[in-house]
Amino acid sequence: MTRTRDALFSARSRPRRNRRSEAIRSLCRETTVSPAALVYPLFLHADKEDCPIEAMPGQTRWSPNGLLRCVEQVREQDINSIVLFPRIDDALKTRKAEESFNEEGLIPNTIRRLKQKWPDLTICTDVALDPYSSDGHDGLVSDDGAILNDETIAVLCRQALAQARAGADIIAPSDMMDGRVGAIRQTLDENGFQDVAILSYTAKYASAFYGPFRGALDSAPRSGDKKTYQMDPANSREALRELELDELEGADILMVKPAGAYLDIIRRFRDHTTLPVAAYQVSGEYLMVKAAAESGWLNEKAIALETLTAIRRAGADIIFTYFAPQVKGWLAEA
Ligand code: PBG
Repeated sequence: MTRTRDALFSARSRPRRNRRSEAIRSLCRETTVSPAALVYPLFLHADKEDCPIEAMPGQTRWSPNGLLRCVEQVREQDINSIVLFPRIDDALKTRKAEESFNEEGLIPNTIRRLKQKWPDLTICTDVALDPYSSDGHDGLVSDDGAILNDETIAVLCRQALAQARAGADIIAPSDMMDGRVGAIRQTLDENGFQDVAILSYTAKYASAFYGPFRGALDSAPRSGDKKTYQMDPANSREALRELELDELEGADILMVKPAGAYLDIIRRFRDHTTLPVAAYQVSGEYLMVKAAAESGWLNEKAIALETLTAIRRAGADIIFTYFAPQVKGWLAEA
């Protein structure tokens, strides 16, 4: 191309034509957010009372009955996928986390009640030991404080099986032990649960953004941190190594967590896999928006929709977000 033609071309090219009106903008829009792509995380405990979670304004630790009422309302907001996180009584927490695979425990009982009422509800379950462990770690802890990989996997498989038996649709291991996806897949298949999917927390970073969540479940590590199993926030190539392993081990959906500060990782996942990619907009990300909105410094709806759009634009098909039930109303107003 000659210099003159270049100049002529750039003069004729006016990107603003495609931004002239909301109708034209919506015609040209590359990315959308809709409730169909969202998963709503829910907290529950065995108590009869529903407790607001202080560090997560608008979120509640539900009683079993309260949870059912909440799911009813959430479905009216077109949210049909949920993930359950239990707050387990301290008396049931042990070093070996046996309560995690109790088939009469809080999570299996709740899954059965939910499925009885709404057979088409998509229920994801968290596989990790931290809510059940007196050590507060996702894996079993040895006497000298190490996280035991293979011993943990044996427990995770029992936990996943108890959840599948109760009716879970998607098993989501968030523990970051090596090899757990393959072991859980094998356990599910051997027990007739070929159709139960695995959503792996593939690249789960050792992040300070989980703070409010650990408070909500009282699941913070009693000593040490999670850096020997969760990923170093400085690493990106390592996320692809985890991706390759999870694909080989039979994961159905791959997740990046947290989301907002890891958009580059979401994009790399999108470019490296044909599987659906999920991203978890975690408690700290939610809290930052809520806190700024409550003080009047930011517009909650605008910021929340912008962050969700950015996560989708980066390449996420599915988003786990505490904003999920608000999205339908926001889109209707927009
Ligand atoms: C633990 C688990 C965590 C979250 C989901 N599952 C916390 C952690 O790894 O310490 C965090 C979710 C959030 O912050 O919203 N298995």
